[in-house]
Amino acid sequence: MSAIPSIEGIHNILVVGAGTMGSQIGLVAALAGYATTVQDISAEMLARAREQLAARLDATVAKGRLAATDAEAALDRLAFATDLDAAASRADFMIEAATERLEVKEQIFARLGRLAPDHAILATNSSTLGSSKVAPATGRADRVCNMHFFNPALVMKCVEVVRHEETSQATVETTMELARRFGKEPVLINREIPGFIANRLMGAVQREALALAAAGIASREDIDATARTALGYPMGPFELMDMVGLDVIDFIARATYAETGDEADRPDPQVAALVAQGRLGRKSGQGWYRY
Ligand code: CAA
Repeated sequence: MSAIPSIEGIHNILVVGAGTMGSQIGLVAALAGYATTVQDISAEMLARAREQLAARLDATVAKGRLAATDAEAALDRLAFATDLDAAASRADFMIEAATERLEVKEQIFARLGRLAPDHAILATNSSTLGSSKVAPATGRADRVCNMHFFNPALVMKCVEVVRHEETSQATVETTMELARRFGKEPVLINREIPGFIANRLMGAVQREALALAAAGIASREDIDATARTALGYPMGPFELMDMVGLDVIDFIARATYAETGDEADRPDPQVAALVAQGRLGRKSGQGWYRY
């Protein structure tokens, strides 16, 4: 197989990391007909992911949105594994959705660079690290890019494909086409920039919402209601922060501020205070709101 990554050469997908994003990305790929492996070092995470995805498929079938046979076929195409090396040696396309720590990602990408077939594209779902940070470890920088999905990945249509200086045109085209085959609507970002597009837009709205609430101009409930009823957003900024996770929001802000040094990007102290109290949003039962 040549080292030019083409869409026709993609049969096996590897998703590294079985958290909220990784597991749903795995199911997106399996539903699109790809033999998919979700890999995680934790067998417990894998078991939980499998259970949650199966429950989600059952609910979709119950709503009449998916035939039971298609749900079964998707689950059959989805493997869960702790062994990264074996999964990497078969992968034509890899999407890394592991922890947002650079040293962990570097190790994963170095291993994949060694073990994945020559033609394989190595993508990262990271929202805070441009792929140029991990590309040197792979020995195939031209076949590395960001492929950034949104939460919940099964539902949200956008995928940000971000190229770095050495990403080849073939890699960009194949990644964009794969996103389309996943049923997504990819957008291309030509140059790495902290926050890419979506998190920069989301950050601007969040900053304004936090400032309005802190100044007592309106309640959080009314700010959220305005975003929904005046602007047509599916969720208000506080509701969205709670869904994404306040720890994730805080992490993104810290990473962005560390890179830009721009005062507008300074992490919000109210968000940091909630995180310190363990109020992380929906996942912990309380964030800006109670669940
Ligand atoms: N996982 C998977 N599917 C989910 C889900 C979840 N957590 N929550 C809801 N859904 C599905 C439902 O099953 C339903 O599917 P069907 O259409 O097949 O029935 C569909 O989404 C709609 O759900 P609901 O009717 O229950 O509720 P809703 O209409 O309010 O939609 C929502 C829920 C899709 C989450 C919607 O509120 C929404 O789009 N919110 C904004 C989400 C957003 O902005 N995400 C981006 C976050 S930023 C990010 O991810 C980037 C980053 O780097 C941090």
